Amino acid sequence: MLQTPSRKQKQIIIIVICSLICLILYLSCVPQSKSLDNTQTTQTKELFKNVDHLHIALKQAYEKIEDLEFKLSRFETTVSKRYPEVKFLNYLRRKRVLITGGAGFVGSHLVDRLMFEGHEVNFELIHHDIVNPLFIEVDEIYHLASPASPPHYMQNPVKTIKTNTVGTINMLGLARRVNAKILIASTSEIYGDPDIHPQPETYWGHVNPIGPRACYDEGKRVAETLTYAYAKQENMQVRVARIFNTFGPRMHMNDGRVVSNFILQALKGEVITVYGSGEQTRSFQYVSDLVDGLIALMNSNYSQPVNLGNPVEHTINEFATIIKELVDDRSKISHLAEVEDDPQRRRPDITRAKTYLNWEPKVPLNVGLQKTVDYFKKELQRFNYSRAKDIPEVRL
Ligand SMILES: NC(=O)c1ccc[n+]([C@@H]2O[C@H](COP(=O)([O-])OP(=O)(O)OC[C@H]3O[C@@H](n4cnc5c(N)ncnc54)[C@H](O)[C@@H]3O)[C@@H](O)[C@H]2O)c1
Repeated sequence: MLQTPSRKQKQIIIIVICSLICLILYLSCVPQSKSLDNTQTTQTKELFKNVDHLHIALKQAYEKIEDLEFKLSRFETTVSKRYPEVKFLNYLRRKRVLITGGAGFVGSHLVDRLMFEGHEVNFELIHHDIVNPLFIEVDEIYHLASPASPPHYMQNPVKTIKTNTVGTINMLGLARRVNAKILIASTSEIYGDPDIHPQPETYWGHVNPIGPRACYDEGKRVAETLTYAYAKQENMQVRVARIFNTFGPRMHMNDGRVVSNFILQALKGEVITVYGSGEQTRSFQYVSDLVDGLIALMNSNYSQPVNLGNPVEHTINEFATIIKELVDDRSKISHLAEVEDDPQRRRPDITRAKTYLNWEPKVPLNVGLQKTVDYFKKELQRFNYSRAKDIPEVRL
C-alpha cells in the first residue's frame, strides 16, 4: 500500500527540484555569457586598433597633400603664365556684340577674334532657340544661327525654314528695338545651281523651290528679303554676307560636307568617295579669311549683299587628289551616283568685297587644309571616333 508523502516531505522534494533547475540553468548560461564578454572585448579592441590605424593613415595622407600643395605652389611660381594678348578698347569703341550661333564652327572663331579685339562678346552661351524672341541690350548682332550642312538642315526642314524666317524676324526685331547694327549670314546657296559663272551679287539665282535643299536655300533667300524690308521700313543698318564654302578646325566631324568627308576617309584609310563625275567645282575658303571678311563688312558702310569666298576653283576630283596627297597617298578614290540638285559650279565673284571692304582671302588651300587635317587627327585620337561609320553620305 502506498503511503502519501507528508507535507514536510513534499516541501523538501520541491526545494530539491527547484535547486536542480537553478543549477542546470546556471551551468548552461554562465559559461556562454563569459565567452560573449570575451568576444565583445576582442572586437572592441580590434575596433580601437583599426581606428588608430585610420588616424595614422589620415595623418599621413594630410602630410602628403600638404607636401604636394607646397610643390605645386613652388612649381606655379616657376611657370610663366601666358595669356593671349587682348587689345584694350576704351568704352567709346568697345561694343556689346551678340553672335547668334556663336557656339558653332564659324561663330566660335568670330567670338575668339572679337574678344581678342577687346569687345564684349555676349558669350554667356545663352541656350536660346531664336525662333523665340530674345530681349537683350547690344550694339551689334552677327546673326549666324542656322543649321549649315545639308544633312543637318535636311534633318528637320520645317525647323530650318523657321530658324531662317521667324528666327531672322526675331533678330531684326531685336536690332530695331535696341538700334543695333545687324549682319545676316546668308549663303552662296541662294544662287542655287547657277547658270552664270562666277556668281556676282547681282545674279538672282537658280533655285529649285521644292527640292531637298529648298528649306535652306529659300529660307536664306527669305532672310535676305526680310533684312532689306526691315532696313527700308525701319531705317536700320543692315549687312548681308553671302558666305561660300568654308572649312577649318572646329568644323563638325559629321558635317557631311566634302572637306570633312574626304579628310576623315583618308585619315581612316577608307576609300575617298566622290559623287557623280567629280567634274563639278567648288571653291573653299579658310575660316580665318571668312572671319576677317565678316568683321570688315560689319565695320564698313556698305549695306548691299557681299560675296565672301575664295575664288580659286577646284573640281571635286582635283580636291580629292589634293587631300589624298596631304593625308595618305595610298588612299583610293571611287565614284558614286550623283546627288539630287547638286550644284555643278560654284565660284564667287569677289569684286564687291575687294572694292568696298578691301578684302580678299589670304590663306592658301594647302595651308588651310593642313591645319584642318591636324585638327581632325587630334579629334580622332581624342575621341577614338567610334561613330565614324555613321558619317552622313550627303555632301556639298
Ligand atoms: N560653314 C559654311 O561653309 C557656310 C557656308 C555658307 C553659309 N554659312 C552660314 O554661316 C552660319 C554659320 O555656319 P556654321 O558652319 O558655323 O554652322 P554650325 O552648324 O557650325 O553653327 C550654327 C550654329 O547655329 C545654332 N543654331 C541652329 N539653329 C538654331 C536656333 N533655332 N536657335 C539658336 N541657335 C541655332 C547651332 O546650334 C550652331 O551652334 C550659318 O548661318 C550658315 O548658314 C556657312
